[in-house]
Amino acid sequence: MSQELWTDVERYVDGLLIPSDPVLEAAINACEAAELPPIAVTPGQGKLLYLLARVQRAKRILEIGTLGGYSTIWLARALPADGSVVTLELEKKHADVAMANIAQADLSPLVDLRVGRALETLPELAAEGLEPFDMVFIDADKENTEAYFRWAMRLSREGAIIVVDNVIREGEVADPDTGDERVQGIRRFNEMLAAETRVEATTIQTVGSKGYDGFTLAVVTGQEQ
Ligand code: SAH
Ligand code: DHB
Ligand code: MG
Repeated sequence: MSQELWTDVERYVDGLLIPSDPVLEAAINACEAAELPPIAVTPGQGKLLYLLARVQRAKRILEIGTLGGYSTIWLARALPADGSVVTLELEKKHADVAMANIAQADLSPLVDLRVGRALETLPELAAEGLEPFDMVFIDADKENTEAYFRWAMRLSREGAIIVVDNVIREGEVADPDTGDERVQGIRRFNEMLAAETRVEATTIQTVGSKGYDGFTLAVVTGQEQ
């Protein structure tokens, strides 16, 4: 079992199920040209996000961690014409690439990109009193995953789904003594999730071109009183 095999199999299944898509390919090329880190979700993961949003009939989606807008485009494509994705990004440079990619995808009217630290933007969203979200995708700095998940619960409706990326990190997540602060962040998130009675959740391990990692899927079953 090797990285090479995982990548070959990903090429095989994605080749069958995910038609070549000039807009998405141009978005990835623009990220590369701008030297953004190559850490967007894979096409198969992007399509999973899209399908989850469809199944959920999501109209309002929150994304934490935009990068160049690749996952944002997948999510926005699942929305009805009156839907929206609010996406949060720390780096102005990433946000600029994302805005251009989203415009090329003809999705600008559906996307509300906010630049800044998510932990500062999230309270602003709460203060705006927006309609609750139907779906949240958490994919930013892993150290703050627990805090992002708490905000996701607070800002979403009962029945909302929350997806968290990068929760396995080559299996390092199972090592209580890991020296990686990001993995410690995921471990704190896992402990919170285990104790949280207002969500039901599962974590799925994945392999593919991005290595061995995984995601958590949670459904909000209750709200704070
Ligand atoms: N969801 C994207 C990938 C996101 S990569 C995709 O699949 O296409 C993680 C992003 O989170 C990076 O762009 C990084 O700049 C951003 N980020 C890191 N710390 C952040 C913070 N405190 N607030 C908001 N965004 C942050
Ligand atoms: C990293 C971040 C991600 O969101 C990801 O999907 C893969 C890697 C990283 O920071 O290394
Ligand atoms: Mg990620």
